[in-house]
Amino acid sequence: MKQPLTASPSARLSGRIRVPGDKSISHRALIMGALATGTTRIAGLLEAEDVMATAQAVAALGAEVERSNGAVAVKGQGVGGLREPPAALDFGNSGTGSRLMLGVVAGHDMQVEFTGDASLRRRPMGRVLAPLAAMGLQTDADEDHATLPLVVRGTCDLLPIVYDLPVPSAQVKSAVLLAGLHAPGRTTVVEPVAVRDHTERMLIYFGAEISVEDRGAGARAVTVCGDAELHGASIAVPGDPSSAAFMIAASLISPGSDIVVENVLLNPTRSGFIQTLREMGARIEVLDRRDEGGEPVGDLRVRASALKGVRVPPDRAPAMIDEYPVLACLAAFAEGETRMEGLAELKVKESDRLAATAAGLTACGVSARVEDNDLLIVEGRGEVKGGALVKTLMDHRIAMAFLTLGLGARAPVTVDDTSMIATSFPDFTKLMTKLGAQFA
Ligand code: S3P
Repeated sequence: MKQPLTASPSARLSGRIRVPGDKSISHRALIMGALATGTTRIAGLLEAEDVMATAQAVAALGAEVERSNGAVAVKGQGVGGLREPPAALDFGNSGTGSRLMLGVVAGHDMQVEFTGDASLRRRPMGRVLAPLAAMGLQTDADEDHATLPLVVRGTCDLLPIVYDLPVPSAQVKSAVLLAGLHAPGRTTVVEPVAVRDHTERMLIYFGAEISVEDRGAGARAVTVCGDAELHGASIAVPGDPSSAAFMIAASLISPGSDIVVENVLLNPTRSGFIQTLREMGARIEVLDRRDEGGEPVGDLRVRASALKGVRVPPDRAPAMIDEYPVLACLAAFAEGETRMEGLAELKVKESDRLAATAAGLTACGVSARVEDNDLLIVEGRGEVKGGALVKTLMDHRIAMAFLTLGLGARAPVTVDDTSMIATSFPDFTKLMTKLGAQFA
């Protein structure tokens, strides 16, 4: 059942909040915990539907997952030690969970069915199957058009490979590196531009041998040594910058706002949004920058700001890929044109986010258009009319981006469904309301 919600123009936002744990790091902590020997304790795990699907998957494969003293404990089975699950693994809405786990199953002699919800069943899986098939994973699917549901057969005789990423995807990189843990010798992934690096950071933290070589012009080669052993570790998951993005955006467009978002992940491969906002004139300060469990974190003070339109270059896309819908909404409140380039990957997210964002903005009275399938142009006029119903297309970030826009618009904005928000940020409306936002 669809759950519509309306965001009304709000007074100033104020206060201190903490957003829930980073989704990417939460998936990886569960997966590496399952592949480690001993127990991994995860504090601050994101308890949202996507991550719970990964927790259920690793449990179905034989890892023990328990809540204890406010943290989650995973008793791992060692690299290669998981067992065939009794039923299909259902990843719900989660591209990350399904793609990373294909890399894990590849290294085990077992047959597994992967499935997911209607949105996930439309998303391309060939990008992960192609390198994994070269390593030895078997599937009957036509790799070029593969989608879930899919049956795959792994092997304990995987081959190491050198793989040049054809798309800038951390999910593909991570699937190959996780499979590489099981292969004898060295498995290398070459990325054309830096994509999020949590997998390699966490593998090092769990005791794997990883090397990273700079290939110039932003390219990097990441190598994992196979026949690896991972050792259970303690992880504190920092706050998710992709969730914090909505609170930051809401404060920038609500006059008089002054908020602090505590404990936000500041990894440079995730910081493109903050960089772009600063170029637009946003008043954002990092307070108390520190390091937690191999990742940089800090508190962000954000004040309402007059924004100007900017050009966002294509090589920045991987560092802010999930933030484009909310950035495009913010750009509508700026003065002047914002050009967001190199966005082809947005078409294969939980929805076609290029089309969904442009359509939502147009409905709200903003001039926005897509060009050449990878360019989004928004004409900022300093204010937004609103007063529209926005289609969210089973996409949590489209829902949250347009609710955020509604907080700064002249007339209320309704999104047609908020149920998908639970996949990444179940407390979204609660935390926004705590800051002073108005929903009905
Ligand atoms: C993720 C990588 C990104 C991102 C997704 C999470 C990850 O996808 O959009 O939300 O955790 O590795 P791609 O790697 O496919 O771009």
